[in-house]
Amino acid sequence: MTKYHKPTNKHVQAESYKVLLGRQNGKDIASLISTQDENQHGAMRRSIANAFTPTATLDYERWIDATIEELLEVVGRKTKTKTTTTTTGKFELSSMIVWYTMDAAGRFSFGAPLGCLAAEADVGGSVQVIRDRFIHWARWASMPRLERLVHRNPLLEPKSRSPSTIVAMASEKLKARMNSGSNKASVSSTKDDSDAHSYDPSPDLLQRFLEARKDFPRTLDEPGIIGLLMSTISGASDTTASTVTAALFYLLKSPEAMRKLESELMRADLPEIPAYNDVSKLSYLNAVIKESMRLFSPAPMPLERLVPAGGITIAGMYFPEGASVGCSEYYLRGSKSFSSSFRSIHQPQCSLTDRLQDVTTNTNVE
Ligand code: HEM
Repeated sequence: MTKYHKPTNKHVQAESYKVLLGRQNGKDIASLISTQDENQHGAMRRSIANAFTPTATLDYERWIDATIEELLEVVGRKTKTKTTTTTTGKFELSSMIVWYTMDAAGRFSFGAPLGCLAAEADVGGSVQVIRDRFIHWARWASMPRLERLVHRNPLLEPKSRSPSTIVAMASEKLKARMNSGSNKASVSSTKDDSDAHSYDPSPDLLQRFLEARKDFPRTLDEPGIIGLLMSTISGASDTTASTVTAALFYLLKSPEAMRKLESELMRADLPEIPAYNDVSKLSYLNAVIKESMRLFSPAPMPLERLVPAGGITIAGMYFPEGASVGCSEYYLRGSKSFSSSFRSIHQPQCSLTDRLQDVTTNTNVE
């Protein structure tokens, strides 16, 4: 991986990303992740850069804390009702985690949860919409031209599609703020939260995007803002949920790793909902998260890029301009040459504990 010599030109997304383009009224809609237009991508990134600085992201922590509080309430209710005759006290934690990440993403994106935890369901099929998009990407990425013929054929596709629940909610929130003349989330739009936790709304992404709009009016027009909110919610929810679920799964299978993590958490003496700045310092917890992501990747796609003018040399092999290069993550994780700490990755008998022992003594892992 160190033998990577690249020219200064940018590496734009390969053809495979075309299958990720949105579709509305017979037209392709580019998003932050799917656009192949480097100028458009640059403008989008610059326009929202201030919304994703380390300081700005800490501002969203209160939205996440509010959602953790709601998650604890729902889980507490489920486990406390164990002895009643109406429920067995059993529930599916992995679904609960996805509903949590969807609601958290809704809150820090436009100041309101999608309502999945409250309904204990995938409200409006939003989770499925996001999953279908990633499944579509994985299925068609290697056949972008055939995908165009089958899925973007003007003769076959419906004239109009009703907007998804997330798009409908994002549009409603955007219109409400534009009509009120305030960029901030209104207390009424987060009524449930403000009643329960009685705090002023924290800044959310929509507020940051509206503030940036005066400098980037063309990129951050109404469809542009809604597209960016959609990109963030799709990018943030299932990825985070799979990471948390994988970490819990591997911990349950590795009692020794669980014991060590518990001991680190007890020593840290954290409140029930700890601050990011406190948990980010916990080295064993961080190793557990990173190791779980290596064992089960939430984003296993090859993420191909086009080789720019002048070609490129990767690991001693020359690739000409225009070639599409990506990386098979499954191969990378099993590759002995990538890092000595990855050696035992495909050995089923290797538990998270073994891996963490290896990793925590390895300088490749912070
Ligand atoms: C474990 C959690 C996450 C994983 C594994 C993950 C993974 C990725 C990957 C691999 C990409 C690059 C895709 C590409 O270039 O083809 C990406 C892009 C992106 N992610 Fe995440 N992500 C995670 C969490 C988040 C969160 C929490 C947010 C938002 C708050 C987010 C927002 C985005 C956005 C907006 C992009 C597009 C960036 C661009 O095209 O410039 N992601 N993510």
